[in-house]
Amino acid sequence: MKRMKCLISAGPTREWLDPVRFISNPSSGKMGYALAKAAASRDMDVHLVSGPTDILPLKGIKISYVETALEMNAEMNRSFEESELIIMAAAVCDHRPLIQRKQKQKKKDAVSSIELIENPDVLKGMGKRKSSSQVLVGFAAETENHLANAREKIFEKNLDWILVNDVSSKSSGFQSDFNKVTILSKSGDVFEFDLLEKDSLAMKILDIIEP
Ligand code: CTP
Repeated sequence: MKRMKCLISAGPTREWLDPVRFISNPSSGKMGYALAKAAASRDMDVHLVSGPTDILPLKGIKISYVETALEMNAEMNRSFEESELIIMAAAVCDHRPLIQRKQKQKKKDAVSSIELIENPDVLKGMGKRKSSSQVLVGFAAETENHLANAREKIFEKNLDWILVNDVSSKSSGFQSDFNKVTILSKSGDVFEFDLLEKDSLAMKILDIIEP
């Protein structure tokens, strides 16, 4: 039998200002890696696209390492068409510095502001090209109006499912081994989970979203 192809992104992106400084966020990559492990344990053919994390490579899972949002966009798009289940768990930086200096910015030449430009929205781009046989899943990292904001993202990005995260909570935030998510479907289903270890939460998420 043909194995289901599953494409997952994980971790933060880094947007470089110069060779020694970048803009990023505290994503650990743990949720995306947990989802990749859970999908592989279900005999899916998993391709993980990972931003910089401290997590060791997972056995039996193809991993592509990227740093910037532009690299993540290119790598996800390369495998998108052949994938049946796509989960965008990465915390992609929305912006990058307009200027990336080749040499280290010297203290004496310091600037008081940094001009930013928008990065591509990787998930939204895939949502535009999605076929009816593909299942596209995003995360919503929220600090307020969690469900309303997540619902908007389902439609704005043409998703089948969205996993809502309260990123302001210490117990379930970016670096934690635990997470608490609510899952929303495009047709209005709502599944709310307790605070769980990311590995067991990943299995429960797949119970719901696996096509
Ligand atoms: N995402 C993406 N590319 C971006 C930004 C976000 O693919 N440039 C994806 C994330 O991986 C996540 C989903 O879009 O699956 C929602 O990300 P989130 O940070 O919650 O929201 P944004 O779309 O960035 O919107 P806002 O910052 O206004 O909440």
